[in-house]
Amino acid sequence: MRITDTTHVLVLTGAGISAESGVPTFRDAGGLWEGHDVTEVASPEGFAADPLLVWRFYSQRRAGMQGIEPNTAHRALVDLERRLGDRFLLATQNVDGLHAAAGSERIIEMHGALMRSRCTRCDRPPFADTTAYRAGVAPMCGQCKARGVDALLRPDIVWFGEMLPEGAIAQIEAFVRRAGRNLAFVAIGTSGLVHPAAGLVEAARRVGGTSYLVNLEAPANVTAFDHVVLGPATREVPALFT
Ligand code: OAD
Repeated sequence: MRITDTTHVLVLTGAGISAESGVPTFRDAGGLWEGHDVTEVASPEGFAADPLLVWRFYSQRRAGMQGIEPNTAHRALVDLERRLGDRFLLATQNVDGLHAAAGSERIIEMHGALMRSRCTRCDRPPFADTTAYRAGVAPMCGQCKARGVDALLRPDIVWFGEMLPEGAIAQIEAFVRRAGRNLAFVAIGTSGLVHPAAGLVEAARRVGGTSYLVNLEAPANVTAFDHVVLGPATREVPALFT
């Protein structure tokens, strides 16, 4: 990919970029949804019906992050950001925190963060929480409890049917508008099924930008991209930006 003094790069990452670090993807064989109906563990309705099941699922995912490190694809994005500064933006659907761990700074976490919790009732800000809660225990908000109110904590993750974090889409759209024809949109390791992330390739096209896809296999929206590289992210992402 040719990068000039005016090139603006918007990167969208999905579970595939973390696969080689050992984080399971969602929809591949052995993926995270296996054995779970998505609506059971990733929707407000599922949480209302069975908070213990939902907390068990996310506690397992938290425990599964032990010893997991960013890989060369995450690190290639850090290097690219250092080259481009404000002409770089990283929108990630991942909740694993590996981009920040690698050193990326201009990140929009579209789907929240696995290692954060928030109260379902009070407006205290989401807080860092790496606890894998014991089976059978639903964590409660300590601040509400101090006021004599029982309120469940929940993972700070955007579930199906929920709004993205305030300003996330607006920030991405502003970047796309500012970049215009100088935009290079690069999607990495995402199945292109979940909106609004899946629609970004069209937004890039509308402003006259160029789109790239790096993915292990051709996803549903493959024909929307100008350039497609099929292969593992740890090999193909560093190669794309050299
Ligand atoms: P998916 O699991 O749907 O897709 C992962 C994609 O990565 C697939 O197309 C794989 O072919 C590809 N892939 C796997 N290993 C790879 C590798 N080593 N290198 C490159 N590509 C690889 O994950 P997402 O598209 O991220 O939302 O899923 C989107 C959202 O669906 C998630 O953020 C999650 C889920 O609902 C929430 O949790 C809110």
